[in-house]
Parts: sequence; C-alpha cells; structure tokens
Amino acid sequence: MNKIKKISVIGSGYVGLIQGVGLAELGFEVVGIDIDETKVKALNKGECPLYEEGLEELLKKHVNKNLVFTTSYEPIKESEIIFLCVGTPQDKDGNADLRFLFSAVEKIKETIDKNDYKVIVIKSTVPVGTNRKVKELLKDYNVDVVSNPEFLREGIAVYDFFNPERIVLGFENLDNKKPIEIMKHVYKYFDEKGIPFIITNWETAELTKYASNAFLATKISFINELAKLSDKVKADIKTISYAMGLDKRIGNKFLNAGIGYGGSCFPKDVKALIKQFENNDIEPILIKATDIVNEEQIKWFFEKIKNYYGNLNGKTFAVLGLAFKPNTDDLRESRAIKLIDMLLENGAIVKGFDYVKKARKNATNLYKFDKSMAFYGYNIYILDDLYETVKDVDGIIVTVEYNEFNNENWEKISNLVKRKVIFDGRNILVPEKIKKFGFTYFGVGR
Ligand SMILES: NC(=O)c1ccc[n+]([C@@H]2O[C@H](COP(=O)([O-])OP(=O)(O)OC[C@H]3O[C@@H](n4cnc5c(N)ncnc54)[C@H](O)[C@@H]3O)[C@@H](O)[C@H]2O)c1
Repeated sequence: MNKIKKISVIGSGYVGLIQGVGLAELGFEVVGIDIDETKVKALNKGECPLYEEGLEELLKKHVNKNLVFTTSYEPIKESEIIFLCVGTPQDKDGNADLRFLFSAVEKIKETIDKNDYKVIVIKSTVPVGTNRKVKELLKDYNVDVVSNPEFLREGIAVYDFFNPERIVLGFENLDNKKPIEIMKHVYKYFDEKGIPFIITNWETAELTKYASNAFLATKISFINELAKLSDKVKADIKTISYAMGLDKRIGNKFLNAGIGYGGSCFPKDVKALIKQFENNDIEPILIKATDIVNEEQIKWFFEKIKNYYGNLNGKTFAVLGLAFKPNTDDLRESRAIKLIDMLLENGAIVKGFDYVKKARKNATNLYKFDKSMAFYGYNIYILDDLYETVKDVDGIIVTVEYNEFNNENWEKISNLVKRKVIFDGRNILVPEKIKKFGFTYFGVGR
C-alpha cells in the first residue's frame, strides 16, 4: 500500500483536536479544518482552546511541522483520508442534530474531484443510518464511507487516544477490502499494540457507540435511584456500591451515587437513542427511565438543600466544581451549572470554584455573556482560590468528583465559613475527617 501522505480532520473540538494531534504524534501529516476562525488562529500559534492534560504540549510539538489548522477545505483535495469530527448536539426534540455533519459533507462535495478516491471516516456520534445517508449524498463520487465512533473520555482523552480499549470500524461492504486495508494502515500503531479491532457493518458500529454510552448512563442512574432509598432508610450507598462492585460481573466503575451525569455525550446520546427507538416504533422503557432518573436526581439533591435551609434567599453558597467532571473545562450539561442556576433562581448568592482554570474562565463567560449578569443581578462570582470561595458562606456544595478536596486544609476552611454545612453531591469527601472540624455533612444516599 502507498504511504498515506496527508490526513484531514474536520472539526477541531475535543474529538477532532485529539485525533489530529494524536495522528501527528504517530507520524502522519495532518491538516485540521474548522469553521471557527478564532480557534484556528489560536491553534496555529500552539494555543490550546480547550483543556486536556498533555494536549497543549503535543500541539506545540507538532504545530507548523506536521500539523496545521485552517478554515479552508482545500487541503482535503490532497488527503486520501478525511475524518469527520464535527459536533452532533441535541436538537429541540432530542434527536441528534446533524446540521454540522451534513454541512461538512456538502463542503467535501464542493471541494473534491469526483474521480479522486477518498475514505471518509465518521468519528462523530451519529444515529443509525447516518453513514448510509452520507454515502448516498456522495453516490456520484469515488469514496468509501467508514463509521469509526470515538470512545475517548474527557479528562484523560490524550491517554485514551494512545490506549483505546477497542477500535470499532463499520463498512458498507466487508468484501470491499480497500477501505479496511487503509484504516488498518492508519491505525497500525494500535493493531501492533494488540488493541481489538471490531470490523463490522455501518449500523452495528453506529449503534455500538450509543449502546456503550447508554449502558454506562444506566449504571449511574441505577445507583442514583437506589441512593434515594438508601438516604431515607439511613443505609450507606457508598458501602453498597463497594460491596456490589466486588462482584466482577457488576464491577465498580460508574457505580458512584451522585447528582447525575452531565457532559457533552451521555445526556444527548441517551436522548438520541430514545428517539431512535421511537422512530422505529419501539418503546425504550429502560433507557427512558435512565434519562428520567438523571433529570430528577439534581432536583432531588436541590430539594435536600432547600429543606435544610428553609429559604435560600440571600444565603451564600460555595459551589466546588464547575465542569461536568474532574480535569476538564467542559461545562456542557454540567450538573454544577444546573445546580448553580437553581440556587440563583431561588435568590441565593453563589461563589463558584474549579481546579481547572479554563473551566473557571468558561463559567465566567457563561454567566457574563450567555445568561446576562443583569438577569441574575450580581449574585454569581467565579473565584480562583478555594479558600476565597468558602469565605463567609452558609454552605459548601461539592459538585465535581475531585479527590483533591480531601487534601485541602479543612481546619482553615472551618474557620472561614459562616456556617459549617456541607452537601457533598459526589460522595467524594471523607465525612469522618470533615466532621472533626464541626461540619454537618450531607451526602447522596449516606
Ligand atoms: N467530547 C467527547 O468526549 C466525545 C467523546 C466521544 C464522541 N464524541 C462525539 O464526537 C463529536 C464531536 O464532539 P466534540 O466534543 O469534539 O465537539 P466540539 O463541539 O468540541 O467540536 C466540534 C468542532 O466542529 C467544528 N465544526 C462545526 N461544523 C463544522 C464544519 N462544517 N466544518 C468544520 N468544522 C466544523 C466546530 O467549530 C467545533 O470546533 C460529537 O458527535 C460527539 O458526540 C465526543
């Protein structure tokens, strides 16, 4: 096989940027294409617009060497392989919104020569049937379309790029060896490492992605529902999770009770899967319940806080954690932001903190520009220092699963707060340690 010279990666968000930088590190010549001019400019200067551990270093290492970014689709003419990594957010009905994807496909159509062979690889999470639709749109072109869903976890995305647990590849026709060979060549590094490759048809690959996310989300909703009962009957959900998790058939991952899942994937993918069932006239009983439990969980936790204080008007809270999980700046569907909104709507004053600087910056921007400071008055402050955040508050609310909170100086914190009350929405604190300093501790289901 000829050596693949240039790879184009369309979309430079969490998935596309990691894919582009990762392929550059593997020795390919990569062009990252994005419609966001500001992002492209920053990336070409080696500035990373999002936070992922190790990403900026790799970007700086390769940018303007074997990695460049542009807003132009022209470079795809010279690429045999084009990865599509654009966003597929939720539309108003809960379906996956494929506007970005189809607009990128239109641009590919306008740019490439009908006779030039290309492999178009869809990494974006797309409903069953999308790869087929894309091929249909390109039926007059000499292209193969490959489904290659992405499974990276934000927060450890660079690690995940180099150490995937599996690579799923869906093809139109498994007798057509050409695109299979090309994909195996691009992913040779992983093949040599012994990472399992699942070579299948388009529909199976597409559905595998949704099945994986929905299953993990269901595990979370299961333990969260159980936590409500545990809370009431004074059992300890953390001990229950631990004991359950020791059973290898169950496993301990995604079994921590809390205030629900957020992020750019689980909420929208669960909803999009529900829609795919409904569009096929099947009632998705279990997956619908997963979604409902998740939506209710944050409300249940908020009620717990409200019941304790009676009236939240004028009370000040330190919200520890802003992003949807640790070590990311991603605020999409963050439970912390949902909780902050509920507190603000009830007249509380919120002081927010996250260890990730970009998460704090994103939160500042969110409230300043998107939600309008005028609307909420001046009741939200995002602070750079945890001790500043807890100063004079009526309560501390933990919203992100940072183990680091346990290593903070709780004696100092106990002297700074107005009232020694903690609502641990992630069951991450060691209550015995905190209680020693006079705090009243509330967890989720414990
Ligand atoms: N973020 C994750 O952890 C994750 C994990 C697995 C799969 N996914 C899936 O991967 C896809 C991308 O997710 P993301 O989080 O990287 O999204 P993102 O919003 O961070 O990035 C998408 C990028 O695409 C760009 N874009 C939009 N339309 C474009 C076009 N026509 N041409 C070029 N660029 C365009 C946007 O400007 C943006 O930079 C989604 O389908 C998502 O569900 C995400």
